[in-house]
Amino acid sequence: MAEPSPFVDAMTAASANLLGSEGYPCTKVELLEAAYGAEFGKKGHDLAGHTVIDQADVQSVIQKGQGSSLLYGELLPEGVTLLMEALFAEREDVSGPILELGMGTGKAALQLFLSLHRDTHGVELAPSRWALADDALKRLAEFAPSRFRYEAAGESASRLLDLEFNATCDIICGSLLDTPVDILASASAIVLEVCLPKEVQRLACAMLQNCNVGCRVVCYAPLHGLVDRCRLAPVRSAAQGRVPGSMGDGVGGLCLPASWKDIGHGFAFYEVAASAESAEDAWNSALGQQSGGRVSIDASGCPSRAKKTKYTDDVLPSPRTNYRWGKGDKVLVGYSWLPFLDLGNPGDGSADGLDGVTWMSAHVVSVSEDGFATICYEDDGTTEEQVHPERIRQENCLETREPVAIDWGDDEE
Ligand SMILES: C[S@@+](CC[C@H](N)C(=O)[O-])C[C@H]1O[C@@H](n2cnc3c(N)ncnc32)[C@H](O)[C@@H]1O
Repeated sequence: MAEPSPFVDAMTAASANLLGSEGYPCTKVELLEAAYGAEFGKKGHDLAGHTVIDQADVQSVIQKGQGSSLLYGELLPEGVTLLMEALFAEREDVSGPILELGMGTGKAALQLFLSLHRDTHGVELAPSRWALADDALKRLAEFAPSRFRYEAAGESASRLLDLEFNATCDIICGSLLDTPVDILASASAIVLEVCLPKEVQRLACAMLQNCNVGCRVVCYAPLHGLVDRCRLAPVRSAAQGRVPGSMGDGVGGLCLPASWKDIGHGFAFYEVAASAESAEDAWNSALGQQSGGRVSIDASGCPSRAKKTKYTDDVLPSPRTNYRWGKGDKVLVGYSWLPFLDLGNPGDGSADGLDGVTWMSAHVVSVSEDGFATICYEDDGTTEEQVHPERIRQENCLETREPVAIDWGDDEE
């Protein structure tokens, strides 16, 4: 029989009074409930982290996030329990802080902090989500004042001190891409449960090369091999976990219950190797020995609302050399379920898109050499990559649309 996991026990032992003589009713679950109320453990697509987004958050994607997406979702408490096992089982002596990069409202970061008593460093791009995390830290300090102390550090950083375990949980409002190198180099584990467009994934992969050997990394999308001499290797010990499945599939995958998929979502799971050569050896050996099911991971890394309509782009004409809009502009982006050769202009049909085209306000984050764009939607800060330029119109400056010349293939006889 498998040994019981200290991580699982830590979450479920409702009778354990962590504050001992002080008399607070404080299992970890109760502390997390004190911090988050009914939001703790909530599933679905209507969490506080979804609904809180406003214009300042969207601006942060454009100004600091280099096009990172505000697409939201959280690991469920049982997902964080498995995550702890995956990161630290039989490695409890590995020292260094945990980094939760893209922490949302901070539930996973706080659960890791309260369970592992390690210094924890959370970073969140969206100010409104960071503010909810900040409120949670304040509430916890008010709930158990003799154990926790809250300290503000300016407008966009704060700290919770656990006086009993002498550990700190720092939360910073900013971009994970700005994480200081010394913090990366000291990390024992990094959680990067964030949807990032390809260009930003490359930056994140480059950033992770600053980590030390043995640091474990869990990411939303596969990031290994996106830069030269990448040291991200698969975590090997697929079968040895104390909790079945907690150690991943041995070939870079780990399944964790999440708010949008409580049966478990596939994440990338790595350990930083000493060199690119040893990472390559680890991949070859893991793939050679693979047995059992492989966790399926969303390689796109940045799901978007218009992804399903991409097939309609095939009928749009090739990108022109010049458009009136460019990087940084506010634009309207159209999509249709129907394969129109030209989407026309916003306002051509009815406002509710009954002509088959829906237009949405967005900002152009970047334009690639082939003319395709990465855009950030204004209503929720989610990002879409590889947007065909023929789907983009400059706001208040609409072009006259020439009829599209259709080649019907009926050559003269
Ligand atoms: C999918 S949510 C995950 C929340 C949390 N990690 C969890 O599992 O509960 C990803 C979060 O990363 C944030 N984010 C996106 N790009 C970021 C960036 N460049 N820097 C910091 N946070 C970012 C988003 O705003 C969002 O709150």
